[in-house]
Formats: sequence, C-alpha cells, structure tokens
Amino acid sequence: MRQKAIAVLVSGGGTNLQAIMDACENEKINGKIMWVGSDNPDAYGLERARKSEIPTFVLPYKSLSTLNHGSPGRTCLSLPVDFDEDEILKKSGLADDEKNRKKLRLRAIVERILLDYLETHKIDVLVLAGFMKILSPYFLDRFQPDLLNPKVLNIHPALLPAFPGEDGYGDAWKYGVKVHGSTVHFVDYGEDTGPIIGQTSYKRLPQDTFEEFQNRGLKLEWPLYVDCLQLYCERRLRITKQEQRLIVDILPPKKFNPR
Ligand code: GRF
Repeated sequence: MRQKAIAVLVSGGGTNLQAIMDACENEKINGKIMWVGSDNPDAYGLERARKSEIPTFVLPYKSLSTLNHGSPGRTCLSLPVDFDEDEILKKSGLADDEKNRKKLRLRAIVERILLDYLETHKIDVLVLAGFMKILSPYFLDRFQPDLLNPKVLNIHPALLPAFPGEDGYGDAWKYGVKVHGSTVHFVDYGEDTGPIIGQTSYKRLPQDTFEEFQNRGLKLEWPLYVDCLQLYCERRLRITKQEQRLIVDILPPKKFNPR
C-alpha cells in the first residue's frame, strides 16, 4: 500500500509529534511526514522536526493579529476570494458579532496559506498534535469536503465527550475524576466534537500530584496517537452516519493474499 503523506501542526513541546516521527522512522506507521507547521515560532516541536530534517514553517497568526489585520482592504495578505463570511459564521456556530467575524476573516487568511502548503505537497492527512488554533469551516470544507472521508486528526487530553476545550487535564483534575484518559478523533466544525477513533484511560492515584497525573496521561497519548494514525494510513477506519452522528468503525487488518 502506498505510503501516506502526513503533515503535522504543533504549538508547543511536540512530544506527540516525536512519537509519530519515531513511528514513521521505524515503519510502525505507513507514512512519511512531509512538513511540520506551527502558529508559534518558538514551539519546541519545530526544533524536533528540524533535527530530523523535516521542513518546517510558521503560520502568520500572530503577526496578522498584532497588526490588527483581518479585514478586507487592511491586510497585506488579502481575504481568499472564495471566502463567504455569512456562510462560515453560520457553520462555525459562533455568535454573530464583529469580534467573531474578524476572527473568522483572520483565520481564513492564514488557512488559505495552509491549504496551499497541503496542496503543493499533496498531503493525505493532517495531524494536529497540540495545535492550539481552531481550524474554521472555511478550511475544513476545502481540505475535507467529503464528510465520510475526514482527513484531519486531533488528540485531546480527556475522555471525550467529557472535558472538551483548552485544558483537558486541568479541568478533569479540578473536577476530581477517578479515571481519566485521552481521545484521538477526526476534526469537525465543533471544538473536540468530531468522530472518535480511539481512546485510552488510566486511574488517578490517591497520592498523585497534578504533574504526575498529567505526565502519566501524556505518556499514554503517544502510543494511542501512533496506533490511530496507523489505522488511518492502513485505511482501516470506516465512517458511517448513524442517526445524527458520524461513527468510526475499525476494520480488521487486510489479509495477505499470496498469488
Ligand atoms: C497534549 O496533551 C495533547 O493532548 C494536547 O496538547 C498536548 C500537546 O503536547 N492537545 P505535546 O506538544 O505533544 O507534547
């Protein structure tokens, strides 16, 4: 089977990226990382990629927002011609106010750059590994137009649908959960709402500090993400619509068929 072309986006330390890079190197994943991008020029994940001679780039989220850009006519980078603000706002589920409209315009400008990188390198699958920006419907409609063929994966540090949002470990810890875990899922318009591919769980121990609780969870994320991405690369994930939700089934490995 042809190797999948993988792209990864990170915002921070990149330990999940490292696990995926190692798995590609050791052929545990039938894929090749073509580039690593980030919204954060200082993300250590970029450094990890460079050490493995994987091309990197920084998406200009920061520079655009500090310059107060993001409205037509005021940007050096202009809004994509196919950006329909009302349609994207509606699909995003955000309230209709100028702050959200501006946010979506800004995202679309950066996402157009991201789409160009994906198209140029013929990327099959985009992996979000601690990427702290939300991809808007403008991006998702173009990169994965077919609902039954999603192409963006994310890892969230909680057992979804519990504790979506920015701080899965922190929110679960404060809530006092006794069992916690992580989820790898496909990305849809919502925040951490997409179809679930895999989950891993562990117990909170009575003597745990928050750091111990979080570090144990993080170490379990790595093999989970590798396994889920490999299932994707082996084309063993089947998505079907059941009632109102998309559900992922894991298909058995394809049998070797000697001729
Ligand atoms: C992980 O906990 C991941 O689940 C979350 O952000 C963190 C990224 O860690 N989305 P790292 O950058 O992979 O080390």
